[in-house]
Amino acid sequence: MYAVIFGKNPKLSEAEFYSFTKRFGIKIKIIEASRNWIIFESTKKIEHLFGRLGGSLKLVRIEGQGKDTVRDLEYARLFTVSVYGREDWKLWRKLGSEIKRTFRKEGPSKFFKPARTYAMPSELILKGFPETKDFVFFFGERVWVGETVKVADPFELKKLDVERPIQRPMLSIPPRLARIMVNLTEVPQGNFLDPFCGIGTIVQEFVLQGLNAYGSDSNPKAIHGAKENLKWLKKEFRTKKSAHFEVCDVRKLKKCFRTKFDAIVTEPYLGEPLKHNPSKWEAIQMANRLDRFYFSVFESFSDVLKRKSRVIFVFPAYRLKGGGIYRKERKWLGKLGFEVLGRYTDFEERHRLVRDIHVLGYRS
Ligand SMILES: C[S@@+](CC[C@H](N)C(=O)[O-])C[C@H]1O[C@@H](n2cnc3c(N)ncnc32)[C@H](O)[C@@H]1O
Repeated sequence: MYAVIFGKNPKLSEAEFYSFTKRFGIKIKIIEASRNWIIFESTKKIEHLFGRLGGSLKLVRIEGQGKDTVRDLEYARLFTVSVYGREDWKLWRKLGSEIKRTFRKEGPSKFFKPARTYAMPSELILKGFPETKDFVFFFGERVWVGETVKVADPFELKKLDVERPIQRPMLSIPPRLARIMVNLTEVPQGNFLDPFCGIGTIVQEFVLQGLNAYGSDSNPKAIHGAKENLKWLKKEFRTKKSAHFEVCDVRKLKKCFRTKFDAIVTEPYLGEPLKHNPSKWEAIQMANRLDRFYFSVFESFSDVLKRKSRVIFVFPAYRLKGGGIYRKERKWLGKLGFEVLGRYTDFEERHRLVRDIHVLGYRS
């Protein structure tokens, strides 16, 4: 039995997690689910696949139910305690002391205090995880006890973002989100295209996942940057696969590619940067203007997609001046053969814009 702990956008992380299980043929049975974590049984071991998730922080192996499980935990000289479902330092300290006491017959041990009542992956890595252990307590309908067996590596994701030779911080998508979007396709293998690839963040993720990677952009400078970044990726991450790049207007994909694609994963041109939060009327105007362009983009997609393929597309949504968010409905997608299977918002502090991530099935 396992638990997965979701990251800062739990709804999106949860959707990613379910898509990921389908993508890798993992059958699961949910035992208990909360906003920030789920406990489940799985038909397969998933430790080796956990790194493929972008939106989850930890994989925990559940050792048992009830606080007595503390007796079954494996000894560690240094450990910490993570409590989910309660934010109670008294409880945290009590659980740590109890573990320390049960370890006494095996040797001395110490536990350290994380910033919150649970440890974040970066704290664990810096303290020497996996030798340093993280014992996890979930307070839900029942009490579950486990040990963290895998953590997301924020240092790797950061490296993918800020160490590559060509960067465009205001335009680029975070590598974490690129990973989430690839999982949302539910497509395990095949030809993947990002037709607004910019300097290639999403294409990098295709390559890291061993997919047949294609990227295009109308800006030759961006394509040059994407190629430079890919050279760097191949060297730093020792990837065997390569990627195919084209300078191409998205409305002419048929002319640029002979390949048919299993999935398109992309963040398009989202309009001019916003200087202030718009009124609802301004938001509607902006969205309508962009939709004229997006309509021709999806027409072009249908020229190069296989039947039963998937598109993960970021539409813009807007935080409004008076509060609330404007998210447009797009009936025309259905007319072009695209069915909306899911919609998730994601908000990044450095942008005013809200991402309205759509999962679309094409002629499925
Ligand atoms: C939001 S950026 C994509 C950023 C990319 N995900 C990254 O991480 O670098 C949008 C990209 O769309 C490209 N673009 C704008 N209009 C286009 C068009 N008609 N055809 C193809 N690409 C276009 C721009 O050159 C820009 O690189």
